Amino acid sequence: MQKCFIMEDSVEVILQHKSCKLSHHTPEKPLVTAASGALLVGVYGLWSLFALPGFRKVPICLKVPYLPSSRTQTQNVMKLLHGRAGCLADLGSGDGRLVFAATVEGFQCTGFEINSILTGYARVKAKWKGIPSSTSSFRNQDFWKTDLSKYNNVTVFLAPGVMEVLGRKLEKELPDEARVIACRFPFPDWTPTATEGEGLDQTWAYDMTAIRMLSTQATMR
Ligand SMILES: C[S@@+](CC[C@H](N)C(=O)[O-])C[C@H]1O[C@@H](n2cnc3c(N)ncnc32)[C@H](O)[C@@H]1O
Repeated sequence: MQKCFIMEDSVEVILQHKSCKLSHHTPEKPLVTAASGALLVGVYGLWSLFALPGFRKVPICLKVPYLPSSRTQTQNVMKLLHGRAGCLADLGSGDGRLVFAATVEGFQCTGFEINSILTGYARVKAKWKGIPSSTSSFRNQDFWKTDLSKYNNVTVFLAPGVMEVLGRKLEKELPDEARVIACRFPFPDWTPTATEGEGLDQTWAYDMTAIRMLSTQATMR
């Protein structure tokens, strides 16, 4: 409980510092980005009619609507995780599709999802697929208030406006050997190690060792 408050405080501090401004990512395809944004808002509107409970506790500038990963996007994520092992956290796990794909590849997965309906659905789906809870579990939990230090693989499909703040949280908490995979929206301040796919299905891989080295070099300049 103590730790929860510390995590919450640190996110609040980051937010105050940034004043919740949107990311500086310049879209290369404005029409695609606008359409994608409109779709996200529409889906969020629908969901918010009956799935708001957990969301009320998340600051408005950190709210992210539900939109499932496409099959190609999921495959791109798996390509960037190829050859890796260990614990994986999917931040905002939705119906669990990224978690299920990663479980097949041998990862020990945890999906964090604030929407209780989606969490319940993913748990039922896991049972139906015969996946034991020792290999994949779903927590109805706000990832902003979660200590992520035990995860050496993290996947995120969120929204452009939260990526910068999330980058700072991950940089603080993840171990050096961690790899972070971002779907559709890259981290504005990080340099990717690799990327897969294009357009709406593009995914980026970031290795914490490289990210920390680059930010140390930047502060020394
Ligand atoms: C764009 S969807 C991605 C779903 C899934 N990862 C996929 O790729 O299909 C983002 C998800 O993050 C969840 N989410 C948003 N903020 C969250 C938070 N603070 N903690 C946990 N889940 C959150 C939303 O409810 C939504 O299901």
